[in-house]
Amino acid sequence: MLGVEDLSISFGGLTALDGLGFRVAEREIFALIGPNGAGKSTVFNVVTGLYRPSAGRVRFRGADLLGLAPHQIARRGVARTFQNTEVFRTLTALDNVLIGGHAHLRGGLLRAALGARLVRREEAAARRRARALLERLGLADVAGVEAGGLPLGLQKRLEVARALAAEPALLLLDEPASGLNPTETQTLMALIRRLRDEDGLTILVVEHDMELVMGISDRVAVLNYGRKIAEGKPGAIATDPAVIEAYLGSADG
Ligand SMILES: Nc1ncnc2c1ncn2[C@@H]1O[C@H](COP(=O)(O)OP(=O)(O)OP(=O)(O)O)[C@@H](O)[C@H]1O
Ligand SMILES: [Mg+2]
Repeated sequence: MLGVEDLSISFGGLTALDGLGFRVAEREIFALIGPNGAGKSTVFNVVTGLYRPSAGRVRFRGADLLGLAPHQIARRGVARTFQNTEVFRTLTALDNVLIGGHAHLRGGLLRAALGARLVRREEAAARRRARALLERLGLADVAGVEAGGLPLGLQKRLEVARALAAEPALLLLDEPASGLNPTETQTLMALIRRLRDEDGLTILVVEHDMELVMGISDRVAVLNYGRKIAEGKPGAIATDPAVIEAYLGSADG
C-alpha cells in the first residue's frame, strides 16, 4: 500500500534520512522505531508532504505522492497525528473532529449550487459522524469541552478522532502513547487493533513505548541516523544485536 524508496533528506549539514526504504502492506500495523533523532518523524513529514526529500520516492496505492501538497495527500486517504499533540485548543472536541472531516464537505460554488437545504443536510451528517467518532474513542462526554482544557490522554485520543474524520485508508500515528499511563496505553492498543480489524485501516506507528510496539505490530523497522538497521517481526527485532547496540549506544533512546 505504501512504498518508501531510497529516501534522503538533509537539514543544513545534518542527514536526517539516508537512503531509507520500506513497504507497508494493506491492513498491516507497521512500527517505525529508533533512538531520538533517528528520523522517524521526518518520514511522516515526507509522506504527508510537509518536507520535500532530496532523493527517493513515496508511492501510495500505486501513485506517486512526492510533489503533492499536504491537503492533496490527505484527500487520497492519508491522515496523521503529531508527536506534539496539536488540537485546536480553543475549539470544542466536537469542532476539532468536524474540522478533520472538512475535506469531505463539498465547498465553494458547488456548495452554493446545492442550495441551503442540502448543505444543512450535509452538515448534519458530518455532525453525526463526528459524534459517532467521539463516542467510539470514549470522548462523547467531553464533546462540548474546549480541547485545550482536556487532559493530555484525552487530547491524544481527540487527535486520533480528528485524523479518522478524514476517513483515511492509511493512518500515521507519531508517538500516540507518549504521556499516557499504562491503562491508557492498553486502551490505545486495543483501539489501534480495532481500527485495523474492524475498519480495515493500515497503520504506520512511531513509538518509543516497547510494550505497545511489541504488542500490536505485525512488523517493525528500526532506524538509526536516518538509515534502516533492521526490519522484521517484533520478536526478532527485540533480540537483534544491531538494534540493541543502537539503543545502548544512544544517551536517551
Ligand atoms: N525542520 C527541521 N529542521 C532542521 N532539522 C530537522 C528538522 N526536522 C528534523 N530535523 C532533524 O532531523 C533529525 C531527525 O529528526 P526526527 O524528528 O525525524 O527524529 P525522530 O526519530 O522523530 O526523533 P524523536 O524520537 O526524538 O521524536 C534530528 O536531528 C532533527 O533535529
Ligand atoms: Mg519524532
